[in-house]
Amino acid sequence: MNDHMPARDAATDTRDIEHNRGVAVTARDLKRHYEDGRIRAVDGVTLDIRPGNFVAICGPSGCGKSTLLNLLAGIDRAESGSLRVADRELAELDETELDEYRRSTVGLIFQLHNLLPELSALENVQTPMLMTALSGRERVTRATELLERVGLGHRLHATPNRLSGGERQRVAIARALANRPRLLMADEPTGSLDSQTGAQALDLLEALRRDQGVTLIMVTHDPNVAARADRVLNMLDGRFVD
Ligand SMILES: Nc1ncnc2c1ncn2[C@@H]1O[C@H](COP(=O)(O)OP(=O)(O)OP(=O)(O)O)[C@@H](O)[C@H]1O
Ligand SMILES: [Mg+2]
Repeated sequence: MNDHMPARDAATDTRDIEHNRGVAVTARDLKRHYEDGRIRAVDGVTLDIRPGNFVAICGPSGCGKSTLLNLLAGIDRAESGSLRVADRELAELDETELDEYRRSTVGLIFQLHNLLPELSALENVQTPMLMTALSGRERVTRATELLERVGLGHRLHATPNRLSGGERQRVAIARALANRPRLLMADEPTGSLDSQTGAQALDLLEALRRDQGVTLIMVTHDPNVAARADRVLNMLDGRFVD
């Protein structure tokens, strides 16, 4: 937090006027295999991402992109290799620390939106905040502002089955932003959207990067998305190729 600025109420400060919050990501020979090694989903990934960079990851279905994002997000653990995010080696974190890392450092927009079907948009966006110090009222205020920011201020109380695909995607984006992540990752965020809605989702993610300097990693098949990235990494059979 900038010393020259007055302390802000966590719930009302949704402009997130903190710059250069992005983290560096470094991976060395990272591996994650499934089924006793028969499936080498991530098979020796080496990677350097600078804070605030926008990196697109491309590659055919099954090449390991989602598996890699899960490792980066601390949802899954690698079996070998090194993975450092914000100068912390994820393998050295215990479960509690990894939980905290997932909650406070990472925002993940899943390939399938993973919204809870019985909860409204407003409640879905609040779920990551449940384990934080925010009061119920602060959570509602922040979730409302995030949903307004993604253009869904008029659909706060709709459950996912009453929302369009693009609207669900925007709820998922709002939810990923709930705890002000420094590493924002999206798995095919525009995949199920028409080109205009997809471009809007992308604009929103790019604005976050520009305004706050968050590090942005995006898995995509979409050449329009890749064209806007600082760097495009091509994955094949669990590793990056030239
Ligand atoms: N939980 C799991 N158990 C066993 N195998 C898995 C598991 N999750 C993924 N795999 C396998 O690991 C490989 C990589 O899967 P992953 O989901 O990372 O691919 P992807 O690049 O994201 O593909 P897509 O573009 O289709 O989403 C695939 O062969 C997949 O079948
Ligand atoms: Mg995938």
